[in-house]
Amino acid sequence: MTWFSSPADAADRLGSAGYLADAATATTAYLAGALEKPLLVEGPAGVGKTELAKAVARACDAELVRLQCYEGLDEARALYEWNYKKQLLRIQAASGDESWSETHDNVFTEEFLLTRPLLTAIRRDDPTVLLVDEVDKTDVEVEGLLLEILSDFQVTIPELGTVAAVRRPLVVLTSNASRELSEALKRRCLYLHLDYPDAARETAIVTSLVPDLDRVVAEQLVATVGRLRELELKKAPSIAESVDWARTLLALEIGTLDEAAVAETLGVVLKHASDHDRAVRELRLRG
Ligand SMILES: Nc1ncnc2c1ncn2[C@@H]1O[C@H](COP(=O)(O)OP(=O)(O)O)[C@@H](O)[C@H]1O
Ligand SMILES: [Mg+2]
Repeated sequence: MTWFSSPADAADRLGSAGYLADAATATTAYLAGALEKPLLVEGPAGVGKTELAKAVARACDAELVRLQCYEGLDEARALYEWNYKKQLLRIQAASGDESWSETHDNVFTEEFLLTRPLLTAIRRDDPTVLLVDEVDKTDVEVEGLLLEILSDFQVTIPELGTVAAVRRPLVVLTSNASRELSEALKRRCLYLHLDYPDAARETAIVTSLVPDLDRVVAEQLVATVGRLRELELKKAPSIAESVDWARTLLALEIGTLDEAAVAETLGVVLKHASDHDRAVRELRLRG
């Protein structure tokens, strides 16, 4: 069995891989493998969407193939393209008695193909987690391409033929919900909404990543981050910021998170001047 055998098994193995999953996350991770359905994970920045895909790969001894999405990503970068430079060299090097159709057949072969993440994931024989990261940043055309590939896990390359997956990758798509994804894409996927963890889980995450930090300081830190998230900030602190903050406090050998310590290190957690001012005001710090 490549993926997880039950939700409890998922929670266990993700935990061993350093990812502390809540019940909903463990269940969905299990189902993604058991039902062979792509998993769409949506939520604010820094709550562990990307890390979940990486942790599934670690937990299942699978290789992670990552397609990072961005505006302007196209098929050539996502799926495959021909290595024009190499083809050109090959054509120039062809001896005079080679016919055009021979040359053509020679330059449209495996040797001249540049495989990109989607094709790479489909062609792998070994367990693979395909991470399509920040899918909301691409254009609708790429979403169409994804939809096609996630429906039948095959790709047709006109010059080479159809490549079908020997073994389906476990697909994780992440989104910050900066735009609505198409209904068609959502229908293909299992859906998981990830949000900031509760205080107990966040403390556990922080102390597992920064084990030398005093437990009481970790709890104070998580409580303060919780208060900051309640303010209306431009950018609420995420788990990543909590972890950075923990590392900062440890490096500065701060033994208790009092007002002075918070004021001194707030720049690690809040990255906008206006957020900083607001926090100082609302938490009544002496900024
Ligand atoms: N459940 C978790 N268990 C362990 N670490 C976590 C968890 N969730 C988040 N993290 C930490 O938070 C960091 C940010 O998570 P990331 O996956 O990059 O966020 P996102 O992709 O949602 O923006 C990760 O590098 C990881 O260290
Ligand atoms: Mg991410």
